Amino acid sequence: MKSTKLGSNVSSWELPLIAPSLLSADFAALGTEVRRALREGCRWLHLDVMDNHFVPNLTFGPPVIRCLRKAAPKAFFDAHLMVDNPETLVKPCADAGVELLTFHYEACSERSQSLIELIRNHGMQVGISVRPATPVGRIESYLRHVDLVLVMTVEPGFGGQAMIPSCLNKIRTLKRLREKQHARFLIQVDGGINETTIGLAVAAGAEVLVAGSAVFSNGEISANLAKLRGEIRKTLRGTSF
Ligand code: DX5
Ligand code: ZN
Repeated sequence: MKSTKLGSNVSSWELPLIAPSLLSADFAALGTEVRRALREGCRWLHLDVMDNHFVPNLTFGPPVIRCLRKAAPKAFFDAHLMVDNPETLVKPCADAGVELLTFHYEACSERSQSLIELIRNHGMQVGISVRPATPVGRIESYLRHVDLVLVMTVEPGFGGQAMIPSCLNKIRTLKRLREKQHARFLIQVDGGINETTIGLAVAAGAEVLVAGSAVFSNGEISANLAKLRGEIRKTLRGTSF
C-alpha cells in the first residue's frame, strides 16, 4: 500500500488507514471490541460523542473514554464531538486520554479559532468537521491551523446510513486547498463507508476512513477489515497519487 506522509503525531503511519467507529460496536463489551480492533491492526479508533441536541442521538462522553483508554493504552483516540458548546468538553476529553479532538464548525462557527487554540493548549491535535450541507469554503480560513478535516458523508447522528456521494467532492476541494495553502491537515471521511464506497473515498483523496457498521455490525471484524483493506489496495493500484 502506498503511504502518504502528513500530519504530526501520525506522520509515519501508512495512509490511507481505517479508523473503526465504536458507534456500531457492542456497547456492553466496549473494552473487548476495542481490543479486537487493535489485534486486527487498527491503531486509530474513532469515538463518536453525541449530546441529543446538536444531533438527535446520545452516546457516551469522557467517563467512558477514560475507561477505554485504560483498556487500550496504546490506541490513538480521535473523538468526534457532535455536541453544542464543544468548549465545555475540551478539558474532560484531554483528561480522559483523547489525542485528537474534532468539533463541528456548525456548532461554534465564529468561535472556531479560539476553540482550535483551546484544544491545542490542552495538548491535543485538532480536527474540524462539516455536515453535508456546509461548503468547505466556510472553513477555509482554519485549514492552516488544524491537523485534520472531517468530511461528513452522511448527516451526523447515526451509523448505518447510506453515503451521500456528492460530499466526496469536498475531499477533492480540500486537497487543492491544502496544496495552495501549504497546509498539513489529514482528510478524514465519515459516514456510509463500506466495501462498495471505500474505494470512492480513497480515489477522492481521503486518508482516514471512518467505518462503523462495516467493521462491527456482524461481529466478523477480521473478515470485514480484510475486505475493506482489499478494496483500498485495489483502488490504490488503479490510482496515481
Ligand atoms: C455518524 C458517526 C459515524 C458513524 C458512522 O454520525 O459520526 O462515525 O459511526 O457509521 P457508519 O460507518 O455505519 O456509516
Ligand atoms: Zn464520527
